[in-house]
Amino acid sequence: MMAAETKKIWMDGKLVESAEAKVHVLGHTLHYGVGVFEGIRAYPTPQGPAIFRLSEHVARLVASARFYRMPLPYTPEEVAQAIIDTQRANDITPSYIRPIIYRGEPALGVKNQKGRVSLAVAAIPAKKYLGEQSETGVRAKISPFRKPHSDAIPSFAKADGNYLNSYLAGIDAAEDGYEEAILLDQNGYVAEGTGENIFLVRHGTVYTPGSESDILMGVTRASVLTIAKDLGYPVVEKLLSVNELLSADEAFFSGTYAEVAPIREVSHYVYGDGKPGPVTRDIMEVFYRTVHGEEPKYAAWLTPVAPAPRAVARATRRAATS
Ligand SMILES: Cc1ncc(COP(=O)(O)O)c(C=O)c1O
Repeated sequence: MMAAETKKIWMDGKLVESAEAKVHVLGHTLHYGVGVFEGIRAYPTPQGPAIFRLSEHVARLVASARFYRMPLPYTPEEVAQAIIDTQRANDITPSYIRPIIYRGEPALGVKNQKGRVSLAVAAIPAKKYLGEQSETGVRAKISPFRKPHSDAIPSFAKADGNYLNSYLAGIDAAEDGYEEAILLDQNGYVAEGTGENIFLVRHGTVYTPGSESDILMGVTRASVLTIAKDLGYPVVEKLLSVNELLSADEAFFSGTYAEVAPIREVSHYVYGDGKPGPVTRDIMEVFYRTVHGEEPKYAAWLTPVAPAPRAVARATRRAATS
């Protein structure tokens, strides 16, 4: 993240200038990867900026911290408020919001559990993670790097260290000219992307791997499952083989950063005519209307963020002088 992309970062109760948001080089998290984080989006809606599925992200963050024995000195309500306050202070929409829980005080030694557990929250301008291909279809490669088994590193927790695996798979795919990697689990079943869950469509049924495939149980994944069911598509969570992946009619990724992104091709196997298929398009349409506050049915998934009083005063002055 570039310091210039954001103004204020929330650090343990204070909104500090981005350039001042620093931690000690001997902090435990930096050395051992024991930190947990979230990726959350805020969208413009007709009622003003709103955060998508805030309480689900906070619940996963708090559960991840608890699993890694990081006693957080904030309640889930205080974490949610810190996220809202950061979004409001930066006044950027659409934004990508990154809360992170870490140990930032000097504390070498892998088993060291001393030192303050901290929370920081940043908000940066949201980009299309997969560029143009988010709409026209992503080219993905089946990665030679597999997901670690959850007996080694549990996939339900969104922990810093998990992303060594995503990093290796992601750069390998990029070096081979693909936009994304698809990782298999230890048994060779389809798991997920580097930062996305995966869906397949076959004969009008929507399939996605379940928790037994060592995936992160995505908040977007849960939203897509609800949307697909409500649209009347049969939905099945099951182990998916590479054969099922390559012979599907359609495929797409879901994730906070990737949103809902059609997959055009997997390791040279092209889906249909190479354009997003009808079921993918149907789900994408409802998803994008939902996040932009245009689907009353899912309005409860959005938390409105009223602008800070100063921003309201600025806007009122602008309106008065124009
Ligand atoms: C490995 C992995 N899988 C799936 C996802 C999608 O999860 P979500 O929809 O909650 O962003 C993410 C992103 O957080 C991820 O990092």
